[in-house]
Amino acid sequence: MTYYQLKWLRSYLVLAILFFIQIIPSTAQQTLYKEKNAIVEVRITDLLKRMTLKEKILQLNQYTLGINNNSNNIGEEVKSLPPEIGSLIYFSNDPLLRNQIQKKAMEQSRLGIPILFGFDVIHGFRTVYPISLAQACSWNPKLVEQLCAVAAKESKLSGIDWTFSPMIDVARDARWGRVSEGYGEDTYANSVFGVASVKGYQGKNLSDQFSIAACLKHYVGYGESEGGRDYHYSDISSQALWEAYLPPYKACVDAGAATLMSAFNDISGTPATANRYLLTDILKKKWAHDGFVVSDWNAIEQLIDQGVAKDRKEAGLKAFKAGVEMDMKDNIYFEFMEELVKENKVSIAMIDDAVSRVLRVKFRLGLFDKPYTATTDEKARYLKKEDVELAKKMAAESMVLLKNKQILPLRKETKIALIGPMAKDKTNLLGSWSFNGRDADVESLYEGLKKEFNEPSQIIYAKGCDFDKDDESGFEEALATAKKAEVIVLCLGEKKTWSGENASRSTISLPAIQEKLIMELKKLGKPVILVLSNGRPLELQRIEPLADAILEIWQPGIAGGSAFAGIISGRINPSGKLAITFPLTTGQIPIYYNMRQSARPDQGKYQDISTESLYWFGHGLSYTNYNYESLTVSKTKFTAKEKIKVSVTVSNIGKMDGEETVLWYISDPVASISRPIKELKYFEKKAIKLGEKVIYQFEIDPIKDLSYSDANGNRILEEGDFYIYAGDKKLKIELIK
Ligand code: BGC
Repeated sequence: MTYYQLKWLRSYLVLAILFFIQIIPSTAQQTLYKEKNAIVEVRITDLLKRMTLKEKILQLNQYTLGINNNSNNIGEEVKSLPPEIGSLIYFSNDPLLRNQIQKKAMEQSRLGIPILFGFDVIHGFRTVYPISLAQACSWNPKLVEQLCAVAAKESKLSGIDWTFSPMIDVARDARWGRVSEGYGEDTYANSVFGVASVKGYQGKNLSDQFSIAACLKHYVGYGESEGGRDYHYSDISSQALWEAYLPPYKACVDAGAATLMSAFNDISGTPATANRYLLTDILKKKWAHDGFVVSDWNAIEQLIDQGVAKDRKEAGLKAFKAGVEMDMKDNIYFEFMEELVKENKVSIAMIDDAVSRVLRVKFRLGLFDKPYTATTDEKARYLKKEDVELAKKMAAESMVLLKNKQILPLRKETKIALIGPMAKDKTNLLGSWSFNGRDADVESLYEGLKKEFNEPSQIIYAKGCDFDKDDESGFEEALATAKKAEVIVLCLGEKKTWSGENASRSTISLPAIQEKLIMELKKLGKPVILVLSNGRPLELQRIEPLADAILEIWQPGIAGGSAFAGIISGRINPSGKLAITFPLTTGQIPIYYNMRQSARPDQGKYQDISTESLYWFGHGLSYTNYNYESLTVSKTKFTAKEKIKVSVTVSNIGKMDGEETVLWYISDPVASISRPIKELKYFEKKAIKLGEKVIYQFEIDPIKDLSYSDANGNRILEEGDFYIYAGDKKLKIELIK
């Protein structure tokens, strides 16, 4: 159904219902928007007609509350808060405080419209899960859905109804710190994991007890920030927009995501926050999204810095007319919207549409009917046994074994020197955006290893050095410790503040002091297992040759210690595969698997280094070996209307049971426009027992899987040859008339 048909149908329904309620007694009529069983659209219409312009405008504003937890200050903040405010960013986890504020809205405002409490719940609330980039490396969307449901439950019990998540910005530049917050470099992967998280947060129904509203961000193209510099310009062709950046948003809108956040970046000259084409023409008209868009923090005022507005008032006008319904924190809508209406620059119809969208989300969440949060103590809210188990499972599945010269897993008797600044660290394992995470909840790598191995005296420890600076005074102890052991497990990486927002880096290698530590240890001639915890791909060209094995554990959250130790001991067979490419050097960026073919594929290489990455997207080793047997297809020549099935049999011919993800790619070697070398179209993870075979299948729908978007978003399907790839196998198919 198109946007206009939908709109027509909705207005018709509302009119019909309003006609019938003429016969309902007048008391009920007065409070129709409070009637739990009335249809949401009817409730909205009823409420809108009771609201003054000022009340409407306040619904379009979001303030923050509770950033400092001095109770006197909070008391003052609560007092000065207008009870009609639309939303708050809630920097607290206290349901009592939320209820106190909500009471003010319900009882001290004329109409009793509940406040929508939002917060950045990105990879778990108190039960902190691995960062999103790591989650994608698990290739297990079911787990992502489950952990988002846990995050929703903990948030809801802490007074939060709305999370600013998932981030589904396709990100191909590891200098950009926010690569840690999304699902990697691939469009399809961002779509699948985005949808999984929307389902996890929102549940079956937004009004369910533990559902919270999702917010897709940052709409759109933020991952393309020039030079990896945060908040910068992004030059995105219409082709790239439709092909790479918009599809995850479309998938998540179709999955019912309640809200979106407009991005900071300027896209080819028009900032995302003032971009009517993206926010209204595509999102609201073409895709029929009926929730609302919130600006990013200060993004409206920043239109002045971006050079498209001369002052706050003009910035507000541009953002609002483009399709941003809620002003995050700028207070511009509150200050200027009434004036803009009086000057006829903004119509009441536009205000009503915007307010309806905000109210629609509030009604759908059931906030009018249940405005308050259940008050429970922290013990009842957080870190439930099964939720921690899920954290362990996700941490284990998200870790990627990058290299293994037959050293891992270690025998149970091995004497291990555990060295490095990450070995006993807890804070940094939590990753960025973990406001409610506590160090005390985290199992460190050291603790995990001590528990894992038979004899705790087998694990000897030295820090070696700090994450950065140039103090080498700990080297001596590290070398002495390493001398006493058979194997060195060296835990290096990034502090959590080195990735995430406003954390761009010009080079993605580890600081020199950490590289020096591994160089010194290597001189002892003992095997070195390098364990990396970081929020982005790293440049490893100088240290990779020194390591006998490399395990990427990302920022694994509270349960990283046990997952890491399980992989080291072989209790867990690693199954993660990279969702983002590790370049050989920073200078290779951008480098991603689905680039387009060069005009001279055998030339144009770098003169100084290889043009190959260090580890491509999809790379990840296991302790067992898988053999991809022949790839077969139900039909090699088929028409656009026929779906075909491709199958590949994978056998476990190695040493232990395992789980293997088959990544299915398709390439279109000749089309009217040049297409990427290959594109991920489907993936599936299955367990395969030692000595057994498992069949993986992918049903190809030509219209969905073989077509491409043109620069206007039209799907184009062209006849001809296509190639399917799974593992090391390749197969040709042909689409005919
Ligand atoms: C970030 C968003 C975040 C918002 C609210 C902004 O600075 O870009 O991702 O949701 O702040 O905290």
